[in-house]
Amino acid sequence: MPAKFSLPPLPFEPTALAPAISADTFAQHHAGHHKAYVDKLNALADEHDFTETSLLEIIRETADVDPEDVSEQVSAGDIFVHAAQHFNHSFYWKSLSADGGEPTGELLAAIERDFGSVEALKKAIVDKGVDHFASGWVWLVSDDGKLELLGGHDAQTPVIDEDLKPVLVLDVWEHAYYLDHQRARKAYLDAVTAKHLNWAFAAEAYAAESVEDLGLGIGNG
Ligand SMILES: [Fe+2]
Repeated sequence: MPAKFSLPPLPFEPTALAPAISADTFAQHHAGHHKAYVDKLNALADEHDFTETSLLEIIRETADVDPEDVSEQVSAGDIFVHAAQHFNHSFYWKSLSADGGEPTGELLAAIERDFGSVEALKKAIVDKGVDHFASGWVWLVSDDGKLELLGGHDAQTPVIDEDLKPVLVLDVWEHAYYLDHQRARKAYLDAVTAKHLNWAFAAEAYAAESVEDLGLGIGNG
């Protein structure tokens, strides 16, 4: 029986981030949207003989395009979309926390070097998310240790580029915030960046040799 990709459990109680993100939003987003991506990915992996292929290998093999241009290259039925969205959402749950604390150590030093301060980084994340047109993601990535923000449309994911290591991500599709904040994307971003970014996970991701070492619970070995 080939290994299957699986939906990782939320790493917190679904009520833990309210009112920034409600249990109703998590029910739709995690058990609804994300599970649908995983189910479709497993069906497409069978169809394309990718059942022994890792998630990152599928993403990289099926998207030989620049990360910024992905949305122009794919359609909704492509295995790339479902593989990338499984990775993106798995990374998003890990990026959130009931009380994320504050960055420390090497990550704090990198933030102060590359953004000036933690507050400046939080403001840059909010601005990037507010300015992003339509569905997508705001990624904090490490490019050989240098921190950068990357906005991506639809299923864009920085792991297409092996030189970019994801550190944190925020989902800015409307399904991430509409039930709680209606069209006020800035209110969602302000509330999450104020106290719900998981800085312990970000430090782990920043220090990791590879994203594969992070234990995202995505299945398939
Ligand atoms: Fe989403």
